[in-house]
Amino acid sequence: MIKSKLVNLLNEMTLDEKIGQLVQISGNFFLEEDNVQTGPISNLGMCENMIYKVGSILNIVGAKNVITVQNKYLEKSRLKIPLMFMADIINGYKTVFPIPLAQGCSWNTEVVKRCAQISMKEATIAGVNVNFYPMVDLVRDARWGRVMESTGGEDTYLNEIYAKVLVNAIQGDDISQEGNCAACIKHFAAYGAVESGREYNKVDMSERELRQYYMSAYKAGIEEKAKMIMTSFNIVDGIPATINKWLLREILRAEYGFDGVVISDYSAIQETIAHGISIDKKDAALRAINAGVDIDMQTNVYSNFLKELVKEKVLDISLIDEAVYRVLKLKNELKLFENPYGNANIEKEKKILLSNENLEEARKLTSETFVLLKNKQNVLPINKNQKIALIGPYADNFAITGEWSMFSERENIVTIKQALEERIGKENILYAKGSNMLTTKEMNYILKADGKELLKNGEELKTQKKYLDEAMVVAKKADIIVLAVGEHYKQSGEGNARVSLRIPKLQQKLINTLRTLNKPIVMVLFNGRPLVLEGIENKVDAILEVWFPGTEGARAIWDVLFGDENPSGKLNMCFPEHEGQCPIYYNQYNTGRPNINNLRFESRYQDASIYPKYPFGFGLSYSKLEYRDLKLSSTILHKGKNDKITVSVTIENCSNVDAKETVQLYIQDLFGSVVRPIKELKAFKKVLIKAKGKTKIEFEITEEMLKFWNRDLQYISEEGEFKVYIGCNCRDCLEGKFELI
Ligand code: NOJ
Repeated sequence: MIKSKLVNLLNEMTLDEKIGQLVQISGNFFLEEDNVQTGPISNLGMCENMIYKVGSILNIVGAKNVITVQNKYLEKSRLKIPLMFMADIINGYKTVFPIPLAQGCSWNTEVVKRCAQISMKEATIAGVNVNFYPMVDLVRDARWGRVMESTGGEDTYLNEIYAKVLVNAIQGDDISQEGNCAACIKHFAAYGAVESGREYNKVDMSERELRQYYMSAYKAGIEEKAKMIMTSFNIVDGIPATINKWLLREILRAEYGFDGVVISDYSAIQETIAHGISIDKKDAALRAINAGVDIDMQTNVYSNFLKELVKEKVLDISLIDEAVYRVLKLKNELKLFENPYGNANIEKEKKILLSNENLEEARKLTSETFVLLKNKQNVLPINKNQKIALIGPYADNFAITGEWSMFSERENIVTIKQALEERIGKENILYAKGSNMLTTKEMNYILKADGKELLKNGEELKTQKKYLDEAMVVAKKADIIVLAVGEHYKQSGEGNARVSLRIPKLQQKLINTLRTLNKPIVMVLFNGRPLVLEGIENKVDAILEVWFPGTEGARAIWDVLFGDENPSGKLNMCFPEHEGQCPIYYNQYNTGRPNINNLRFESRYQDASIYPKYPFGFGLSYSKLEYRDLKLSSTILHKGKNDKITVSVTIENCSNVDAKETVQLYIQDLFGSVVRPIKELKAFKKVLIKAKGKTKIEFEITEEMLKFWNRDLQYISEEGEFKVYIGCNCRDCLEGKFELI
């Protein structure tokens, strides 16, 4: 539709019709057969005449559902403006990929891109028009349950790179085409910095810190023309992000030039009342529309109060028109006026969802997301003649797709035991569950939060001893123990903040018991956040971090354990030594007392080091690599002259195994007008280094890499001395020095 037609359409709309476009509700309201008026509408408290005017639908997927709802809606709608269907397709639709935090550990943009592209291919034929993804919040505190949704983890640069890759992978060149849809960046802004890692909590920091670390990934996504952005639940500098005019109008619209749609997070506008700012829903509606929120997700705040505000002349209709136009424009870009079903296609669903191609590719991509944290005496890869005892609550468990995989079915997921059976035959399997996942108390916490029936106290005691005994019987017959353990999948994700980052107690007992046999133990770890492995790490010989690896995860695990694939993942968030260190991240500032030869008054803890157990960028492989000869083409970089320094290292693969190595470049600004971090990632390259081969890796250092936000909030570089580090993680690096003059 051409622009003038879109404007005509806007002019034809009644005020109610306009307001409807700014409202999003759950599609169940249309799918439920019983009387829409008594059930769903009254639950939401939305005026009855608004229901067939709403502009978009949340989390209804599947071509048949989408087509049914669209038809029902259009039949009753006066102007026949189609609904937009939005959903959270985070790490896959039917074919589920590793959780985003895991994908980010690939340090391979192609892996992240392909996971998103295949997910979008499946989701768009299932009718999705807008994906509430990517989440680009910077995450530095593993207590926060939602770190699992981040690809960039604790690092600003990595986060920016992935934000761009994901927006492009989701949107492609044309959002109306099959395989593409609109990307919704979230959660604007700084949601990852919630105090104490507690969900929905406050965020407060200097504007300089906010810009330096937290804002740039949102900006990067906007520069790639993301069509939508979602406001966050948290406050920023005392004002909830959802009604924060400074954030939404001054920064997002004016400074970043964002002209897409702003949507609130789920009921976030209404929640500004609980925050203690808006005095009632009407006030909340006024504040949100004034701040620039176009769509109200899943409350009646806009639907029931905007009209009154216009009638009372408190709200200028132009603000509504502006918001409605943005929504219509997006529908037009999706070509929904020409074809209201978008790419929803029942026939294609049968062919494409979970197709062999998708699954095969998923298996390959998945193995690149695993991080080998420990491999004592090269206990891995497992020798194919060794007898394996497969033990643990994750060994024969379908729940390996993570908190967000709400559209996948368990029958499509292969368990680790099933995948091993495929390789060595059912008759050769030595398996025991070994332990319950959680105690009754821990499990009941999860069940209660989900409104489910609780277990009786001490329920696990009935089975725990039996599981443990069975595990010992099985383990005694084996040469090597593969132990599949970790967090319950509902211990990470939204609303699942934790103060303990340890493997659940019952499973710790299992590990300790098996240790007494003195057989090699390979721990395969399932979790949605970095864990504290104190007291466990030293009991096992190898640790393979597989996060929540998805539909093909189990097959990919054996590919790596048997050495068909060489692990190449590296951590995008460090593993703390202790929870008390959180938030912990590599690019900290030096204190005035970092290392002063006087322990008593040094910046430290009495009962833990200040360093993580496994640092950012860390990950082993089956190869043995040596970094040497860091060389700079010059030690001077000229300011304002587009100058470059080439820095190189030589990496030798001293093993018989080809390696995929992520080479990381960090820079430190030694003296600045504001304190600068001890190291910042500025570039990386993932390269293949052949067995017994040698490669020279080069990077270019430019002035752009040295820029930062100064006290006056200018993004600048400053003359002076810098250190450059190249290494296999943020800790183990070669270093050199140069000057910007
Ligand atoms: C709340 C979450 O914070 C957000 O990430 C998600 O997109 C919406 N719910 C919609 O499901």
